[in-house]
Amino acid sequence: MSNQYAHIIGWGKYLPPRVVTNEEISRIVDTSDEWIMARTGIRERRIAGPGETTATLAFEAAARALEVADVHPSEVDLIIVATSTPETIFPATASLVQDYLGSRNAGAFDLSAACSGFVYALSMASNAISAGSSQVALVIGAETMSRVLDWQDRGTCILFGDGAGAVVLKGSSVPGGLLASSLRSDGSGADLLRLPAVYSSPVPGLDPTFSANGHPRTITMNGRQIFRFATQVVSDIVEEVMEKADLTPDDVALIIPHQANARIVEAAAKKLKMPVERFFLNLEHAGNTSAASIPIALCDAVEAGRLAPNDNVIFVGFGGGLTWAASVLKWDVTPPPVSLSQRQWRRMRYVIARTRSRLRQTGRSVSSMVSGSPTPEARMRDAERNEKKSRSKKKRKA
Ligand code: COA
Repeated sequence: MSNQYAHIIGWGKYLPPRVVTNEEISRIVDTSDEWIMARTGIRERRIAGPGETTATLAFEAAARALEVADVHPSEVDLIIVATSTPETIFPATASLVQDYLGSRNAGAFDLSAACSGFVYALSMASNAISAGSSQVALVIGAETMSRVLDWQDRGTCILFGDGAGAVVLKGSSVPGGLLASSLRSDGSGADLLRLPAVYSSPVPGLDPTFSANGHPRTITMNGRQIFRFATQVVSDIVEEVMEKADLTPDDVALIIPHQANARIVEAAAKKLKMPVERFFLNLEHAGNTSAASIPIALCDAVEAGRLAPNDNVIFVGFGGGLTWAASVLKWDVTPPPVSLSQRQWRRMRYVIARTRSRLRQTGRSVSSMVSGSPTPEARMRDAERNEKKSRSKKKRKA
């Protein structure tokens, strides 16, 4: 062990500009603003636009977190993106973010633990820092849930939204930062909340989650069972992680739960005998953004002045898998001030990173042409040319 503690030194969020209100959803499915507000606490959510992807949302959040931390992208040596909505299984969304940032010294991978993903990723990155294999890690939760929803299912389409949140973790010999984590899973509840992968069923007609309109795969959920599961595990794992960190409920300044449903949080607060005001909620305006919800809520909590130096804060996530997880963190870093010109220069850096990336792609095409190992397009052209030649040869012979 390297005796390093993982401290959060930067945070950032990105929500797409397009707002979808409950009223707008009530024009698509049979529901109402009153029903959604009363049962969930959600009033509106954000939906990604045509040019936005999970990777672009993640990049925006990560760039803002690096800015707060005053960390150059090349200092980052690990990027983990917790997501259930990557555009591709590979490349990982984290690799795309690494490229957009120009973090040329970083390893990058995605982590799949549904709505618990951010807490899992935070724990993995913190362990990497404690073990000495990483010094500066970017932990991101990013989702485009709107693209995997069945917009005819009023039980699920009212709940979810899109967005991304990120934190920068840095190793330091100063005790503090991430104090303890607990991670859990119960795969026997796999059917309660499910998002099939691209080729999970070879026969679309036999797969109930493959809708007739050609939309590939969507989320299915047993709302009541998930509600029951969540109210149980949130209180259990919060108690467990407090015990690990040797804290009592009075030592905890703030709990940032996964933003799924205000009633779940009220029930958990009651079980823990903690005032519900100690739980931070922003789901009224962001909805459930799955793995992104905790880091987005963290940014909003900081903005709202809900965290002071040396506060103990608990993150608690739960969701598909089933999975659930909690971490305790000592909030102990005051970020350095960043001037407008520094901010502008940093934005330029990402334009340069994209240009470099394009140049590398072009360089690869050129070198494969020069070395005689053709690109797939060149191979196709050669094959067509040879086919034409052999056809005209046959004609001549005939
Ligand atoms: N608008 C209006 N009525 C709705 C509705 C909607 N969007 N969704 C369901 N209903 C109806 C049902 O059809 C049912 O009608 P019925 O009594 O005539 O059959 C009634 O409301 C009650 O349904 P029920 O499923 O028991 O509602 P609920 O109080 O459990 O609320 C959820 C539904 C989805 C809001 C709630 O179960 C929930 O939040 N579960 C947890 C989900 C979650 O957090 N998932 C993510 C975890 S990461």
